[in-house]
Amino acid sequence: MRHLIDISDLTVEEIDSLLDLGEEMLRHPADFRASQQGRILATLFFEPSTRTRLSFESAMLSMGGSVLGFPSPDSSSTAKGESLQDTIRTVSCYCDIIAMRHPKEGAPVAAALKSEVPIINAGDGGHNHPTQTLTDLMTIRLEHGGFSGLTVGMCGDLKFGRTVHSLVTAMSRYPGVRFVFISPPELRLPAYLLDFLRDRGIPFSEVERMEDVLPSLDILYMTRVQRERFFNEADYVRLKDTYVLTPDKLALGRSELRVMHPLPRVNEISPRVDDDPRAVYFKQVRNGRYVRMALITRMLAE
Ligand code: CP
Repeated sequence: MRHLIDISDLTVEEIDSLLDLGEEMLRHPADFRASQQGRILATLFFEPSTRTRLSFESAMLSMGGSVLGFPSPDSSSTAKGESLQDTIRTVSCYCDIIAMRHPKEGAPVAAALKSEVPIINAGDGGHNHPTQTLTDLMTIRLEHGGFSGLTVGMCGDLKFGRTVHSLVTAMSRYPGVRFVFISPPELRLPAYLLDFLRDRGIPFSEVERMEDVLPSLDILYMTRVQRERFFNEADYVRLKDTYVLTPDKLALGRSELRVMHPLPRVNEISPRVDDDPRAVYFKQVRNGRYVRMALITRMLAE
């Protein structure tokens, strides 16, 4: 039985095939309306979520399947002290596949060891978020036609931003991609990922000022400073507004630039940017539903 814990669990060929199917589902959703009838998805979210949880649920419902889950861990027996392992052993008796989010890095691996059904990591702490990466890749492919030759700027909290970690891992497997990491020194990309890029000879640079690199970018991937991962509030307050993308700053970017954000945003993209045709973060939201339909379909077919 296969699980999706890390984006590297999928080959490049499997990712490309998932994106193909996701795009097909986006174009012809009615063709898949009954394709998962009788199947049940459980959404186990031990951390808050809007997009990931609801897009998984929407994906399964759009294919005729059913969904179960608890509204918050406080309303489950987790509140009585039940272990994650026992919760997973229990829930996996009731469903065909589980999408799970947890604040602890590695929790989906522990869950997979006890589960009777496939586990999908829907975000584990500051570590990984592979299905957001599928969403991001689908969006980039639809906007730019592919990945080769792209200069990808990632801006903000690169230390704790799990969507950044997964996207760097995935995009580094496609030839011709270069990265520009834009962050304050305290929120740099973790050393293990910088070493990973160096070892593979993938070009990257690290800068502090967004304005200096904006004209060179094909993608600007903005991120929220992850308040929930900070050890003290004072550091969060000092760093939270380091980068705010406004129409004035965006004017430095080329017409080919696409502005992305996994969302939720707090203050790092002004709402005045939303109507710029280069802002595609709500297209990411839409694409997330279809690429998760594709993922559920493929995982349940195995
Ligand atoms: N992008 C993302 O993971 O959003 P949610 O936290 O709302 O699920």
